[in-house]
Amino acid sequence: MIPRIYIPGDSGALALGAEKVAKAIASELAERGIEAKIVRNGSRGAYFLEPMVEVATANGRVAYGPVKTSDVKSLFDSGFLTGGHHKRWLGAPDKIPFLAKQTRLTFARCGVTDPLSLESYKKHGGLNGLTNALGLTPAAIIAQVTESGLRGRGGAGFPTGIKWKTVLDTVGDRKYIVCNADEGDSGTFADRMIMEGDPFVLIEGMTIAGIATGATKGFVYIRSEYPHAVAVMNKAVEIARKAGVLGASVLGSPNAFDMEIRVGAGAYVCGEETALLDSLEGKRGMVRAKPPLPAHKGLFGKPTVINNVISLASVPVIMDKGAAFYKDFGMGRSRGTIPIQIAGNVKYAGLFEAAFGMTLGEIVDEIGGGTATGRPVKAVQVGGPLGAYFPRALFDTPFDYEAFAAKDGLIGHAGIVVFDDTADMLKQARFAMEFCAIESCGKCTPCRIGSTRGVETIDRIAAGIEPEKNLALVTDLCNTMKFGSLCALGGFTPYPVMSSITHFPDDFKPAPVRVAAE
Ligand SMILES: Cc1cc2nc3c(=O)[nH]c(=O)nc-3n(C[C@H](O)[C@H](O)[C@H](O)COP(=O)(O)O)c2cc1C
Ligand code: SF4
Repeated sequence: MIPRIYIPGDSGALALGAEKVAKAIASELAERGIEAKIVRNGSRGAYFLEPMVEVATANGRVAYGPVKTSDVKSLFDSGFLTGGHHKRWLGAPDKIPFLAKQTRLTFARCGVTDPLSLESYKKHGGLNGLTNALGLTPAAIIAQVTESGLRGRGGAGFPTGIKWKTVLDTVGDRKYIVCNADEGDSGTFADRMIMEGDPFVLIEGMTIAGIATGATKGFVYIRSEYPHAVAVMNKAVEIARKAGVLGASVLGSPNAFDMEIRVGAGAYVCGEETALLDSLEGKRGMVRAKPPLPAHKGLFGKPTVINNVISLASVPVIMDKGAAFYKDFGMGRSRGTIPIQIAGNVKYAGLFEAAFGMTLGEIVDEIGGGTATGRPVKAVQVGGPLGAYFPRALFDTPFDYEAFAAKDGLIGHAGIVVFDDTADMLKQARFAMEFCAIESCGKCTPCRIGSTRGVETIDRIAAGIEPEKNLALVTDLCNTMKFGSLCALGGFTPYPVMSSITHFPDDFKPAPVRVAAE
């Protein structure tokens, strides 16, 4: 049997040197006259171990990482093609604690299969969900998705089944499925990782959404900063089309569904669903007033499902294993699993898919291993740039939509960014206002003007100018932004600002005291 070597082609792994490692392994193979197949798989998401190279042995896969080009010769000398011992030896990948502790439903194949092999996809359960869906009525598919408890993973946590039912029930000569792959939140990479590591699962999920709602065309809107994801998705769509997964007759059925990949121009607000639709229509990305909902009048005025990548990519496993299987994971009204993206100043950064319900403390301290600097954790921002900063006192909060909302926070797209005790929370609050000012689409006053006034007012607090009066002013401004903004960019910027003020009051003390305290 020709040895198989898996080297991730995922952009996270590439950023850590995977391409150089792949080249070094290829030239070492040539030099030693060894015939082997190199597979460029996705990443398994343990980025602290990337580039993680795996070899298929008679006893299963064996991983090595993080591999440097300087390790390559000695890896061959140690017999790594048959799992030989080496200082980078990690053993069976699914026994690596960071991976073993996960519940991989949506990301089951990511890092395991060849992303562009439909054969490999099918061998690992791919297309089972679509095949099952084709045997059901649209209403029955939607009933399964609703019953599973799946909620939108893009941030708002809206029930996916209800959204799909609205589109099914809306009359339209044309309907669309739009996948939101703008992934603008700080510290998030789940959408990118699955598009690069298991693109067919997104194609399958979108096709099921099309069949369930009567939509025949889909668009994936990918941020321009993701050129690798764009390339992989384009290739995967082409392969799916040739294989009859997409096209006039999906898997030989009477259902038609096809899709295209579109590249965004780079604005955080273009992740907001209505701004995204404007951008997709070729206009400047401006938020639309609701109603009408996109489900009634969306892309080009037609009924449109707009869902996040992970929401759509979670549908195949639901349609394969059943709503009850999926619903069995999680807590409260947060059902199933969620890919938590652990980033920032953390020892073990990566993607950790788990059932809802782990506490923030478990995620940061046990899974993330605390800070990379070894200093105490001061704050964790959960849910992207519009998410609240949680202090250690709130580490018992379970990862659950309602539990986070009850603590004035949000889960968002499940990105968590860790900060150590050197972080200045006044600077972070200022950054939140500045980010809003830069990214605002400009349509409504509380966000467009409020964020700029917010930066100025926080600057006055930092300078020690009437700090109490200005703190009250920021609080008042946050209330205006929260309740008066048209969309969540202006409406949620108060979360990072107010959580910084509430949980880290010392950082907002007048300048002389701050200096003295330091
Ligand atoms: C400023 C802003 C940025 C957003 N960015 C994203 C994004 O990058 N990706 C995403 O899926 N949802 C994003 N959302 C949420 C979308 O508006 C929308 O709720 C989501 O695409 C719906 O899909 P879901 O129900 O599957 O979560 C953003 C919202 C706002 C207000
Ligand atoms: S809150 Fe900001 S981004 Fe949203 S519509 Fe208003 S100005 Fe635009």
